[in-house]
Amino acid sequence: MAPSVTVKLGGATLLAASALAASPSGYGYGGNSTAAPSPTITSDAGYSATTFNTASASTYLPLPDFSNEQLAFLWDQVYAAINTTVSPTPEPSVFPKPGYLHPLVPAYVSEVENAKLPSDFLWGVASAALQVEGAAAAEGKGPSVWDFIPHRWVNAIADNSTADVAANSYYLYKQDNARLKALGIQSYSFTISWPRVIPFGKGPVNEEGIAHYDDFFVNLQENGIKGVVTLFHWDTPLALFNNYVRYAKLIIERYDKYVTVWYTFNEPQYCNWRFPNYPYGTLLPSYNGIGAGGTKAAFLCGHYTLLAHAEVYNWYKNVYKGTKPMSFKNSANWIIANSTSAADAEAVSRVNDFNMGWFGGPWTDGDYPASLRSTLGDLLPTFTQAQKDMIKGSADFYALDGYTANVAAAPPNGIAACAANSSDPNYPQCAVTATVQPDGFPIGPNSDPGATWLWSTPGGIRPYLSFIVNTYFPKVASKGIVVSEFGFSDPYESSFNTLGQILWDLRRADYMQGYLDNILAARALDGVNVTGIFAWAIYDNFEWNSGLSTKFGLQYVNLTSQERHPKASMFQFLNWFKLHGEDTTATANITAPIGHKRM
Ligand code: BGC
Repeated sequence: MAPSVTVKLGGATLLAASALAASPSGYGYGGNSTAAPSPTITSDAGYSATTFNTASASTYLPLPDFSNEQLAFLWDQVYAAINTTVSPTPEPSVFPKPGYLHPLVPAYVSEVENAKLPSDFLWGVASAALQVEGAAAAEGKGPSVWDFIPHRWVNAIADNSTADVAANSYYLYKQDNARLKALGIQSYSFTISWPRVIPFGKGPVNEEGIAHYDDFFVNLQENGIKGVVTLFHWDTPLALFNNYVRYAKLIIERYDKYVTVWYTFNEPQYCNWRFPNYPYGTLLPSYNGIGAGGTKAAFLCGHYTLLAHAEVYNWYKNVYKGTKPMSFKNSANWIIANSTSAADAEAVSRVNDFNMGWFGGPWTDGDYPASLRSTLGDLLPTFTQAQKDMIKGSADFYALDGYTANVAAAPPNGIAACAANSSDPNYPQCAVTATVQPDGFPIGPNSDPGATWLWSTPGGIRPYLSFIVNTYFPKVASKGIVVSEFGFSDPYESSFNTLGQILWDLRRADYMQGYLDNILAARALDGVNVTGIFAWAIYDNFEWNSGLSTKFGLQYVNLTSQERHPKASMFQFLNWFKLHGEDTTATANITAPIGHKRM
């Protein structure tokens, strides 16, 4: 893709030129593709050597120009070269893709080779606002905690990158939507930035921010792409940690007519991983006596997240009379026992309770599992009966972000001793998880060092889907389950410096084929009511604490030119839907050769 954009002069050009040196040659635009000559130092008779001491400066140099233009110029030096909405250029009708010398990965499950998905099956790719939009301070947006963290918390991000620009989709979305259409992708699962719409979290609405999403929704519709929208994906307005419901109502009232599916929250399970180490307790004011975080903070976070979800769900269905399906996305994985012992079986069930069960109220009686209550006691807030009634049934389908698998074992000192001691390092889950099989071999190929938690385990997703609907939450069976995220980060992808090395992403392609086949097997052979699949991610983006260097994209993003290039995994994904989807949005152009059949 080559968006029609004028790269501005001055600092922006400097930025582009220096970064181009590291970009694959020939794929940049708006600049030259040859590296700038190294500066040579000449002894210049006009200057003598000196020692600088900024501390002794008595004043600042007068700036000659205090105009809006000068200020904009200064910000241009800091932020992206592209800072206005780019008009799309025509997409190619044929993309470069894998050939017969190394064809795509063959099918994993031969029994489902001819299985078809129904025409109403939802499928597509996913992203999150903070991870792709860039334009961090543009057009009235307020800062979110994830603007704050990379800038102010030293080494919080592995590569010290920020999400200030990332894939810059705030300005490039028209080209991105045209690309989705050109690739034949049916749906796009994206998120709205709360601090862009309401900069202080509460208070006035930012007209420019909402006008952006107005245009985005219209453009998505014009391209024939279905919108699957998550209202909150971790980018909490820095100004507050509450007032979510008002924001949710505003967005739903404005965009409901464009949206196919709503998610209120992305992975509330992250309350657990964020709040025991709650960094903001020292860097920002903390509320409600949470202090420096810990277990109490994690479970308060989960409590209010679930209440906020249920309140929005009930308002949407009963007051607003909304008709679109609504749920929230769960971060959870298939857990196998480390041995056949009863203690390890209990460890498995505790991991499930402390992940899925914690937010399982919509599928049960609206309350927490007994194992959480008995372990946590007063650390776990209680719901009133009215709140339980509101939570119960407050999801139209189950949404699983199921990336990997884990092995669980009882802790060395035993589950009971751990559960009775809130200072135990394994408290409150009181189960230890690992990524090696009981025989000591790893559970699958590992991902990038920035995503060490992620192992490619396609064999886990099929039994896991069955477990959720047949055993853990039987109420899901009739409502259906969507695999709302799954994806892989190829090891050391960011160290490749030619496009050729980057595009054949074998581990991700293999992961895609393995997961898709196993998800289909769960549906076609095991009778699990899977109703949708979304791959993470539409393209490379800002991977939270791992920064820009850990790549999850089915498309590569050249961070200098911002061009997007489909990787082999994208064709693996598209070929699969072409083969199995009844919805034939996928075009002929994406077909790439598939390898020999497995025996
Ligand atoms: C999150 C994404 C994240 C992805 C890969 C998911 O759990 O929703 O924001 O980028 O995992 O780590």
